[in-house]
Amino acid sequence: MEYHEEIMRKVSLLREQEHVRILSLETSCDETAAAVVEDGRRILANVVFSQIDLHALYGGVVPEIASRAHVEACDRVVDEALRQAGMELGDVDALAVTCGPGLVGALLTGVSCMKGLAFALRKPLIPVNHIEGHISANFLTHSDLKPPFLCLVVSGGHSHLVKVPDYGVYELVGQTVDDAAGEAFDKAARVLGLPYPGGPRIDELAEEGNPEFLHLPRPHVSGYDYSFSGMKTAFLNAVNKMEMKGGPLPKADLAASFRHAVVSFLVDNAVRAAGDLHAGVMAMAGGVSANRLLRREMQKACDASGLLLYMPQVSLCTDNGAMIGSAAYYQLMKNEVATLELNAEPSLRLL
Ligand code: KG4
Ligand code: ZN
Repeated sequence: MEYHEEIMRKVSLLREQEHVRILSLETSCDETAAAVVEDGRRILANVVFSQIDLHALYGGVVPEIASRAHVEACDRVVDEALRQAGMELGDVDALAVTCGPGLVGALLTGVSCMKGLAFALRKPLIPVNHIEGHISANFLTHSDLKPPFLCLVVSGGHSHLVKVPDYGVYELVGQTVDDAAGEAFDKAARVLGLPYPGGPRIDELAEEGNPEFLHLPRPHVSGYDYSFSGMKTAFLNAVNKMEMKGGPLPKADLAASFRHAVVSFLVDNAVRAAGDLHAGVMAMAGGVSANRLLRREMQKACDASGLLLYMPQVSLCTDNGAMIGSAAYYQLMKNEVATLELNAEPSLRLL
């Protein structure tokens, strides 16, 4: 039987099976992560090997270092995930891997690793969009969450407001016209001399600062779009001026002011869109959804507008393998599996 025919026959059997357990691998940036997820909802194992220490020295992710570190870590995280799940490779029903967007070399290591495994095991391989993975992290935390909902996707590379009318279906409501929210946090952190990755550092420092210390202008954008480069420049100019005057920088106040400006913009737009589009349910996804103020303010605003809010647990907001395994399950149910031609797609879009 042709290889792909054999795989598709296995896929149709899996769709009838009571439980489906997927082994997933995520290597799109600086985390080598593997997981085993059952039925898209239940985490049996979730292993994240962070490369932060390797990149911190350079103040950001160095693509070549990331690829090499993924090559070394892939086998280890997969073995560890299987060990935690109490399973062997043969027990896995299907495999999943992030195929984009991300760093091409980093993606390629994961794609090659899982293609090799899938071929050797003659099991279906599901290619997953990284952003779709982030959105699916909500399904792992909330067993009752089902589409339709509106989702604010805020990561290091993306800021989107999307409608999710069904599993794996997305409609664009708004997006950033320049920087992503995470990128803006990272740049502001760098201006304050905070080490990489800056988002979580700003968030921590901001807890002790005064958000009213510095007023940052809200950009004029149309519809439900976002823009962060103006805020970032205003912040940089204000910090430069203070530095020229001498004396210590009030870093906590500056961090709190920047965080407040970004968060109130994110929340106001998303809640306004939900009202206009008559959405009853809001979700959040991506690394920035771990931000403490964003979580508090979004909850307050949703409560005030009668919106139900879902957010992934904090550990599932940033890159992990489990979110890829969740998204993969819903793709498998729609026969969306890869051929051996699968390649990394660094600029893959969500929609
Ligand atoms: O989703 P993610 O892990 O990777 C991408 O797909 O980009 O997001 C990483 C981004 C980084 O920019 C990081 O600074 C930001 O998320 N981030 C945060 C927080 N935790 C992570 N930004 C603000 N506050 C946080 N607590
Ligand atoms: Zn991510």
